[in-house]
Amino acid sequence: MSEWTPKIVAFCCYYCAYSAADLAGSMRLQYPPNIRVVELPCTGKVDVGVLLAALEAGADGVYVAGCLEGDCHFLKGNFRAKQRVAYAKRLLEEIGLEPERLEMYNLSGSMGPRFAEIAQEMTERITKLGPSPLNRQHRKGEVGP
Ligand code: FES
Repeated sequence: MSEWTPKIVAFCCYYCAYSAADLAGSMRLQYPPNIRVVELPCTGKVDVGVLLAALEAGADGVYVAGCLEGDCHFLKGNFRAKQRVAYAKRLLEEIGLEPERLEMYNLSGSMGPRFAEIAQEMTERITKLGPSPLNRQHRKGEVGP
């Protein structure tokens, strides 16, 4: 039997988390390879529909990583993202899905080690929760797309 590893989507702001991911790579920091990074011009671009669509499409966990509070290049993008993540978490709870599958983080482009730490933290958290019930490949008797 193969060992299950969670699929995690990270929506990362170009100015911070994406640069931090680059830095983590340059520093040769180890972090789980199951993180799929989606680069955004700002986390203010992410909306509730996108977060839920990622889970519906088979992600077991999703996180948004934006600039430190007060450092967003578009002023309030990361605050908007924070509110949207909080709202999406409430929706997940309402439909019976663990809200912990979704999270918001803030970091700067120089925080390569923190990027690796977040990737590890989310992987451990989602591994504990197990496969998402929305992930077709793990539903009993169903064949994935
Ligand atoms: Fe980074 Fe807005 S520019 S979160």
